[in-house]
Amino acid sequence: MKGEGAGQSDAAAQAVGVPDMLDAIRHAVGQKHDEVPIGVLEGRVTGLSGLSISLSGLRDFTGVGDRVRVLGLDGRETEAEIVAFQGDIAIAMPFGSLEGIGSGCRATFQMFGPEERRRRAGGALLVNESWKGRVVDPMGRPMDGKGPLAPGGVVQKLHAPPPEAALRARLGPRIDLGVRALNLFATCREGQRLGLFAGSGVGKSTLMGMLARNTACDVAVIALVGERGREVREFVEDDLGPEGLAKSVVVVATSDTSPLMRREAAYAAMAAAEYFRDQGKSVLMLMDSVTRFCQALREIGLSSGEPPATRGYPPSVFAELPRLLERAGPGLMDAEGKAGQMTAMFSVLVEGDDHNEPVTDAVRGILDGHVVMERRIAESGRYPAINVLRSLSRTVPGCNAPEENALVLEARRDLSTWEEMQDMVRLGAYRPGNDPQVDRAIRVAPAIEGVLKQQRGEKATLAESFDALRGALSVDEVSG
Ligand SMILES: Nc1ncnc2c1ncn2[C@@H]1O[C@H](COP(=O)(O)OP(=O)(O)OP(=O)(O)O)[C@@H](O)[C@H]1O
Ligand SMILES: [Mg+2]
Repeated sequence: MKGEGAGQSDAAAQAVGVPDMLDAIRHAVGQKHDEVPIGVLEGRVTGLSGLSISLSGLRDFTGVGDRVRVLGLDGRETEAEIVAFQGDIAIAMPFGSLEGIGSGCRATFQMFGPEERRRRAGGALLVNESWKGRVVDPMGRPMDGKGPLAPGGVVQKLHAPPPEAALRARLGPRIDLGVRALNLFATCREGQRLGLFAGSGVGKSTLMGMLARNTACDVAVIALVGERGREVREFVEDDLGPEGLAKSVVVVATSDTSPLMRREAAYAAMAAAEYFRDQGKSVLMLMDSVTRFCQALREIGLSSGEPPATRGYPPSVFAELPRLLERAGPGLMDAEGKAGQMTAMFSVLVEGDDHNEPVTDAVRGILDGHVVMERRIAESGRYPAINVLRSLSRTVPGCNAPEENALVLEARRDLSTWEEMQDMVRLGAYRPGNDPQVDRAIRVAPAIEGVLKQQRGEKATLAESFDALRGALSVDEVSG
């Protein structure tokens, strides 16, 4: 879109081409290094509407995704990203607040040569080992008052593409999630990506905290996107606890931050997880929630003039969502055929408990499995409130032993019979002895429910989970 509507000026820029012209400028001023800015382009604010800033004077040298600095009347500088062009006017959105910015304010853009420009595009983080145990914002700035972070030596691009599909490793071995309901009914392999679908207040954050603490992984990266400020501290202190935090990097953008910051929180967490994965580690990526990420994209899309399509979400949301989710999963294989793995759990807030709303639908189609949490189960006091009959991991049964598969199958059959018949049984409309399968379900289902129940502080390994299920299913043998 750059330079759209051009024609009246800068004929030279069009004749020579912008990169050539930048080279010529650099040559003229005697600059050798690409990393040094060639110059600073100055534009002006021509209007503000909603969340977007219109800027003139930036055409020809800026494009979508470029970052500019807007100088407010109070002397504060706000960073903003160009999200669209309307003719000669660049439409930008701020990372911070718009306060103090008015019509006529100055906006500056640092011009770099083509190579450095590519390197800087979209922002980057310098992650390293010392980030574990820390809470950071999407720009990599500490948010936990524990002092500055030591920058790492590897530039992790925020908007990196997913690894080349053909060169990606396969899924790793079975991963121990430390939560019985998941270990048994949504058994995962390293590098698998799951959606966690739940309404509000059903126990997503608690389950994510349990996963961060209990999962057998080297490092956990947790993205808290659009949470209320109060919840962040609660999550870090209560759900994660010191033990979980020690092996985690938490990236936060609360609900009061700009949509760009909320979008970047998801990308920054992904970049941090990629850093650890690319070192050959087994990484657990937890994102709460993808819905808030999509809502941030919706705000950005609508502000840049995109039309709302499905339930107010513009089409770009559903184009960008797979680009984020695809980055999770196995890493690239090294010369010895080894690779790091990023196992991921993305929470989806099922608005109004409607499992057909567009974000739920889109996420379900992209990932390798889903876990459904239900209010009805939470209300009955059984936590984590996972409906195991509606949850599914696409790598099961391949990753379990045949005996384990048989146990899970049996348990599913009993639970499903119980679900179908429980009202009849409670009303006394079923006479025991009529159907052996129903009789068995009546005896066994409460024991299976007992296995699914797990306190927040409790951990259950894969072996312990299967032992518990074996015990529950043999209740029948003992009593019957
Ligand atoms: N494993 C558990 N054991 C006991 N209680 C639980 C468990 N998981 C969740 N709860 C209860 O459910 C409540 C809500 O949980 P949580 O905050 O994790 O839900 P949420 O889905 O993240 O909510 P929100 O949509 O508001 O973010 C908790 O305050 C707690 O009382
Ligand atoms: Mg929550």
